[in-house]
Amino acid sequence: MLLHVPQVLTAAELQRVRAALSRGEWVDGRVTAGSQSAQTKNNQQLPDDCASAVQARALVLEALGRCALFFTAALPRTIYPPLFNRYGGSANAFGNHVDNAVRTVAATGSRVRTDVSATLFLSAPEEYAGGELVIEDTFGTKSVKLPAGDLILYPSSSVHRVEAVTRGTRLASFFWIQSMVREAERRRLLFDMDMAILALRTDFGEIAPAVSLTACYHNLLRMWAEA
Ligand code: NI
Repeated sequence: MLLHVPQVLTAAELQRVRAALSRGEWVDGRVTAGSQSAQTKNNQQLPDDCASAVQARALVLEALGRCALFFTAALPRTIYPPLFNRYGGSANAFGNHVDNAVRTVAATGSRVRTDVSATLFLSAPEEYAGGELVIEDTFGTKSVKLPAGDLILYPSSSVHRVEAVTRGTRLASFFWIQSMVREAERRRLLFDMDMAILALRTDFGEIAPAVSLTACYHNLLRMWAEA
C-alpha cells in the first residue's frame, strides 16, 4: 500500500527540524547503504549520532507519535530511528534499489525487519527540481513529491529510486517500520476496515453495528499482531 500522510509535522516543527539540519555536518550517504545500493547511491546523510540528527529525530518521532493515520496504516511495532538525507549539487540521486530486509540499530544492536518504508519530505516542492521518489510495485510505478511536512508510506519490498535533483536542495527524513502485522494484505485489510468504521461512526455515531465492527477489527488485530 502506498499512502500519503499529510501534515505530519506542524509548520513550527518543520522549522525546528530544518534549523537542526542546517547545523549538521553532512557526510556521504553510502555509510548506511548495502553493497548493491552503494553503487547507485549518491547523496548525503547526517551521521545518526550527531547532535543535529538527535534533535531532529526527536521532533519527528514526537510528531509520528500523535499521528493516527500513520499508526493505523503502519501498525508500528518498532520504528527504526529516523535518518536524514540531502540531495543537491553533485550528490543528487539514488538509483533503483530495494531496502535491506533487516537493519540493525547502531545504538542498541537490536534488529528491525523493514516491512514499511517511510519518507518525510522536509523541502517544499518549489525549492528543488527533480528529486521525485519513484516507487515500482504491484500497483505500477508511482512518482511522489510531497509538500514539506508530509509523509509517504510504501512497501519496503518495492524497488524505488530518487530522481536526480537538478536545481536546489531536497531534504528528507527516511526510516523503516517493523509492523505488528507482517503481511501487507492483512495490514491493508485492517486499514480499510478502520477507515470504514471511522466513517460509519462519524456519520451515525456509536450505533450498535459500529461497536460490533470495532470488536471485529480488534479481534482480527489480536489474531494477527505480534506485539
Ligand atoms: Ni531506499
